[in-house]
Amino acid sequence: MQNYDVKDTKLAEGGRRRIEWAEREMPVLRLIHERFVNERPLKGVRLAACLHVTAETANLVKTLQAGGADVVLTASNPLSTQDEVAASLVTHFEVPVFAIKGEDNVTYYRHINAALDHKPHMTMDDGADLVGTLHKDRRELLGNMIGGTEETTTGVIRLRAMAADGALAFPVIAVNDAMTKHFFDNRYGTGQSTIDGIIRATNILLAGKTFVVAGYGWCGRGLAMRARGMGANVVVTEVDPLPALEAVMDGFRVMPMNEAARIGDIFCTVTGDLNVLDNHHFEVMKDGAILANSGHFNVEINIPGLEEMAKTKRLVRPFVEQYELSDGRRLHLLGEGRLINLASAEGHPASVMDMSFANQALAAEYMVKNADKLERKVYTVPDEIDREIARLKLDAMNIEIDILTEEQVKYLNSWEEGT
Ligand code: ADE
Repeated sequence: MQNYDVKDTKLAEGGRRRIEWAEREMPVLRLIHERFVNERPLKGVRLAACLHVTAETANLVKTLQAGGADVVLTASNPLSTQDEVAASLVTHFEVPVFAIKGEDNVTYYRHINAALDHKPHMTMDDGADLVGTLHKDRRELLGNMIGGTEETTTGVIRLRAMAADGALAFPVIAVNDAMTKHFFDNRYGTGQSTIDGIIRATNILLAGKTFVVAGYGWCGRGLAMRARGMGANVVVTEVDPLPALEAVMDGFRVMPMNEAARIGDIFCTVTGDLNVLDNHHFEVMKDGAILANSGHFNVEINIPGLEEMAKTKRLVRPFVEQYELSDGRRLHLLGEGRLINLASAEGHPASVMDMSFANQALAAEYMVKNADKLERKVYTVPDEIDREIARLKLDAMNIEIDILTEEQVKYLNSWEEGT
């Protein structure tokens, strides 16, 4: 067994139970696992994965191993690791894992570098920190690389910026952009797990509260929908007129954050951008307001600004930091402003990660098969793979759908017939 760095390997049994529990809800990944055992499409591939270290990720890692990959795993966020799962992966599955929940930023990057010491042929990233470090600090390893995959919107944005700059040194498949990923994971996964994280951290009642959702992308749409389902009065803030209009027609109140800041009880950012909640917002917020983030990085709430404004700060519950301002108002920051669904809860449920990680496994296989054809660009998951995952998921749910008749196919392919 190679090097690893986890909290405590004695936690492994609990981790194994969590991994098995998640596996029950991951039928598509299970089918891919079975095929990979026979076909070994990733044989000989050294793969460095920088993902949230959860029970669902463990099932992906097992699938990649079944396909023949030699996998090393590092955390994609300092606060998202399930220490029991990390321990089980090391102990039961011989995966070198570098991840400890609550690690500081120095340790986080030391862990990323430890994963890169593995000299990967492929990267599997969630947020592009692995690819970023590889391009900035470990360029000597670029020559080994076949390509990579990327899990999340924020990472895809960073990679597209790299490609536009001509800086990207190998092809990357944007798993996030598959319909069977963002349409489900970002919407239903983030929607449910963010509410779960806020409730586990605070135990507050959402009914009757004003819940401000910053950003109406797929994550924001899911979060707003679920917050409304819990009885909250949901306000949406946006910068893009199209999703803003959609939010209005979905029945939400839409207003600038300057106004929302005055009326919100709970704020949750899901924008992928910087300082969405800033000092001038903190200045007008109500006493007791709760601030959370479910975007990838902890930059959406201006925490240094809040620290400067605060007279005192204290941890009032796990994952709840109370900042008292000079006028006596108290603002509550959840999970250090890191993605709250993974900080205080368990991330997206396995059933939705099933599809996201089926995309990851099949994208890795596609990357290996097509290595000589792909350029240094960001690619989307091929439509056939996306549809196949949807088909397998429906099969697993025992749901049948209709099939076009020949007559219907002909009609759809013709242009002559009108009224
Ligand atoms: N991202 C969001 N939820 C997740 C989960 N359960 N596992 C891995 N990555 C995630």
